[in-house]
Amino acid sequence: MRKSDAAAGAASATRSGLKVRLRPTMLSDLDFVQSVENDPANRPFITPWERVQHEGAIRIPDFRHFIAEAGEGWPSAGFVILQGCRNPHAAVELKRIVIQPKGLGYGRALVRLLAEMAFRDLGAHRFWLDVKESNARALALYRDEGFVEEGRLRDSVKTEGGWQSLVVMSMLRDEHAARVAAAAPVPEENP
Ligand SMILES: CC(C)(COP(=O)(O)OP(=O)(O)OC[C@H]1O[C@@H](n2cnc3c(N)ncnc32)[C@H](O)[C@@H]1OP(=O)(O)O)[C@@H](O)C(=O)NCCC(=O)NCCS
Repeated sequence: MRKSDAAAGAASATRSGLKVRLRPTMLSDLDFVQSVENDPANRPFITPWERVQHEGAIRIPDFRHFIAEAGEGWPSAGFVILQGCRNPHAAVELKRIVIQPKGLGYGRALVRLLAEMAFRDLGAHRFWLDVKESNARALALYRDEGFVEEGRLRDSVKTEGGWQSLVVMSMLRDEHAARVAAAAPVPEENP
């Protein structure tokens, strides 16, 4: 992928063998985005936005708002929002990721793709996120993909079930580079 493609927002992951790609969200996608956000399977883990917030994230350059497409025929599978793309401290936030067909590996492929985008294309020094402490699936995924837990924002989300704490996690540029290097195939020696 050329840098200009990434700047425009197109990206795909084939390294993992899964068909997953991102394209910039259009205003006409927002019905889909809001239906995904309000799905009872996702609501416990996110705080749905007003439509106008999504419209802002599509238009404001500090954000990248993407539709995730996955599988045969590239149907829309969910959406992703990055924030801090113009952050002066090079701290890019994975603000939101929601994938509808769960447990198929799409989330992992996208987190990997987004880390590449953050460090390679957006020049991040720090790629970070927060996640509800009750979100076992996302926590396991982020830990497994190299995010380090930094601490907890205690009782920072009010839910129907009571207060929830947020786990703050991050990956730094050097840590990401080390993971990529460790995963790279070892070149065969000449006989
Ligand atoms: C979190 C989410 C993005 C993950 O995407 P996904 O496609 O379902 O995840 P994957 O299939 O790639 O699974 C990734 C890993 O999650 C972990 N996982 C999956 N289901 C799990 C569960 N029920 N409990 C604990 N860990 C689980 C596993 O480690 C899995 O990897 P493995 O099966 O290869 O070992 C997706 O489930 C989702 O949209 N959830 C609702 C919204 C949400 O929580 N967003 C994140 C907010 S911070």
